[in-house]
Amino acid sequence: MRAITIPQFGSADVLRLDEVEVPEPGPGQVSIDVAYAGANFAEILYRRGVVDVPLPFVPGIEVSGRVRALGPGVEGLRAGQPVAALTIVDGGGYAEVVTTSADLVTPLDGYDLDLGTAAALPSNSATAFLVLDRVARIEPGEDVLVHAAAGGVGSQLGQAARLLGAGRVVGAVGSPAKIEAARAFGYDEVVLREQVAGAGRFDVVVDMVGGTARRSGLDLLAPMGRLVVMGNASGAEDVGISADELWFANRTVSGFNLAAFSAAFPQEAGRALRRAVAAAASGELRVRVESLRLEQAARAHRRIEAGRTTGKLVLEVERS
Ligand SMILES: NC(=O)c1ccc[n+]([C@@H]2O[C@H](COP(=O)([O-])OP(=O)(O)OC[C@H]3O[C@@H](n4cnc5c(N)ncnc54)[C@H](OP(=O)(O)O)[C@@H]3O)[C@@H](O)[C@H]2O)c1
Repeated sequence: MRAITIPQFGSADVLRLDEVEVPEPGPGQVSIDVAYAGANFAEILYRRGVVDVPLPFVPGIEVSGRVRALGPGVEGLRAGQPVAALTIVDGGGYAEVVTTSADLVTPLDGYDLDLGTAAALPSNSATAFLVLDRVARIEPGEDVLVHAAAGGVGSQLGQAARLLGAGRVVGAVGSPAKIEAARAFGYDEVVLREQVAGAGRFDVVVDMVGGTARRSGLDLLAPMGRLVVMGNASGAEDVGISADELWFANRTVSGFNLAAFSAAFPQEAGRALRRAVAAAASGELRVRVESLRLEQAARAHRRIEAGRTTGKLVLEVERS
């Protein structure tokens, strides 16, 4: 089968379209004929070697497609069924066939959702609900600030906050060109990252940019506020956070990592995915999807790491 591989860590130039063995599902797993694979910042971290994986490695943390085969012990799914799935625990989504835990697969039957859109939901939209609900434990009426608000996960966090009953939902973006794009995702206000200090105080701040965004996120917390750290897209040095500072100011800092969460709590990750699929199918959650072909994976990576994308890029895998 065709797959994009990482033969060595490095820039987007290392990505290769290769012929590799078709994987077979093990106990508790299914294999999926992939229609689309989501393209995410996470796969860039694998490619750069920030996440240490055995090489050659097939990246890809989420897909849509049709069930190909069920491994021993799997019930409730059937061959040919359209599905969306997280493939985040072992990767492998940038390929014609991928295997993953059946717990991380959700059927799409009965939903009015095209497979391109479905591939955009497993990582970012499920994460948005988990971060706000499970990690930040958001309460109705609470004010929320989201960084990189026009991006893949940022575009979902503002909408998820609204669905969970948030009060004021503010997005921060890195350039004026992204203000309108973020507004279209339903933020009450969108500010430039460098002007975020004037945006008020927040019960919940979600930071996936790192550096000054992380530091300012902490400073912008209201009493009993929670900062959720979930990425470092800027590649900045880690920010030293003082435990005494948290104590004196009634602040909380939490971390979230979907890969580790899905490995530890696959059924809960699967439930978050089903929630995201249902919200997208009902129109409550909007995703803006742009599609490239599988062999254009390097182009997708270059665009994401240059910070040039808004919404979500997916890779079309199924040959039409
Ligand atoms: N922890 C988790 O489970 C989890 C799950 C999903 C995503 N994430 C993280 O969330 C972040 C966004 O991921 P995504 O896939 O949704 O990508 P994305 O938002 O489409 O792209 C990343 C965004 O980060 C901002 N950014 C700031 N400095 C940057 C830099 N030096 N280089 C590139 N981008 C920079 C840019 O937005 P502005 O121009 O607005 O600054 C850019 O558009 C990543 O850090 C990713 O690792 C984490």
